Amino acid sequence: MKFNTIIEPFRIKAVEPIRRTTREERKRALEEAGFNLFLLRAEDVLIDLLTDSGTGAMSSAQWAGMMRGDESYAGARSFYRFEETVQEITGLKHILPTHQGRAAERILARCVLKEGDIVPNNTHFDTTRANIESAGATALDIPIAEGRKPDSLHPFKGNIDLDALERVLCEDSERVPLVFITVTNNSGGGQPVSMANIRAASELCRAFDVPLFLDACRFAENAWFIKTREEGYADYSPREIAREMFAYAQGATMSAKKDGMSNIGGFLALDDDDMARCCKNELILTEGFPTYGGLAGYDLEALAVGFEEALDEDYLRYRARSVGYLGDRLVEMGVPIVRPPGGHAIYIDAKQMLNHIPQSEYPAWALSLVLYLEGGVRSVEIGSVMFGMSPDGTERPAEMELVRLAFPRRVYTQSHVDYLVEVLEYVHSIREKIRGMRIVEAPTVLRHFSARLEPVGGTLIDGG
Ligand code: F0G
Repeated sequence: MKFNTIIEPFRIKAVEPIRRTTREERKRALEEAGFNLFLLRAEDVLIDLLTDSGTGAMSSAQWAGMMRGDESYAGARSFYRFEETVQEITGLKHILPTHQGRAAERILARCVLKEGDIVPNNTHFDTTRANIESAGATALDIPIAEGRKPDSLHPFKGNIDLDALERVLCEDSERVPLVFITVTNNSGGGQPVSMANIRAASELCRAFDVPLFLDACRFAENAWFIKTREEGYADYSPREIAREMFAYAQGATMSAKKDGMSNIGGFLALDDDDMARCCKNELILTEGFPTYGGLAGYDLEALAVGFEEALDEDYLRYRARSVGYLGDRLVEMGVPIVRPPGGHAIYIDAKQMLNHIPQSEYPAWALSLVLYLEGGVRSVEIGSVMFGMSPDGTERPAEMELVRLAFPRRVYTQSHVDYLVEVLEYVHSIREKIRGMRIVEAPTVLRHFSARLEPVGGTLIDGG
């Protein structure tokens, strides 16, 4: 190629205005929301990086597919199209559509977990952990050591610690009904998992007769990192790589709101007939008949197209580059981030950036509030508000204090990112004036969604 600029591989057909607010308005909005960004009205946000989940722009082919949606209750054509696409990519036998990823997790937990069980994972996402814990089982995070250090450079920081996995399986395999690997490792910084790691984990699992499941929300992004970083994969297509990843697994849960490129949807896929029978019964109980599982026929059509688009090389190259571009600017400015940048988000290391705020005062939460106050940017804390409570209700500081800036798919352009760089540069310059937070009220499960907080010293930033 003669030219090097990686462009957005699409043109824009429909636009949605975003609204500017004043700092005063944002200050008021924060107070009304109990200093919880989840409780803001989205129209008060200028650039919304709360999540990459369900927030992407669909393509014209997806919208066209929606008109083909077959809304039959049972046996809809759209289901078979969806099933065929997912089977083709995953190679798994039973495909159960669900309304989103956590429904697949809940159904699986209900059918395979019992009190006292242990589920190892590189790092559980919050809903996965909550579903496992609500079954009375233990969600065990065992990423490799580099995965716990934000600034350690490693091409596959999402890898699961194989020694730790072997130890659990040797000591307790009868208590381990399944092993998970999350690709990419969202709570660990959006970091990819190598093919070698998935293969080795699957060999271990097979030796102990324990099924391996992928939490596959960002399988296409993971495939891209394998293609570009792992020796021997450069000449394989993302689809071939994805197929190989899934070939090592006996099942998968998927939030298709990510690499399904759609606004809603998910699936549970598995090989085992008995497990599938139980899961289908659970699906009928709470999601819907197995050929729609809580989705409309048009959603299934959008997903069938979306899975294909997520594996497109031009798209994946642009996707990885747009996240990497922000990462590079932040590193140049001295903002501590999880390095190298992951596939869907930049994670700021708030423990380091705000090292004057103790973990008990939630530095990452405070930083996310300041990004909104100063720039109208919404991010999400992945730290001790999200993960700082044990199932028994006691506080436990999280491993890392991160602020995640997640990129919706195909939504923002480079000038939005340049604006973000400016906001971050400013917030970095006033970091020493940022103060910690305390929780005023919160539920015991998934508390970050609804907790109300207040600044410890009465104000979030010294001097207002
Ligand atoms: N697993 C992972 C790795 C996830 O990132 C998510 C969702 C889920 C499971 C649950 O899927 O939301 O469809 O029920 N992550 C979103 C996020 C919410 O912002 O990272 P869901």
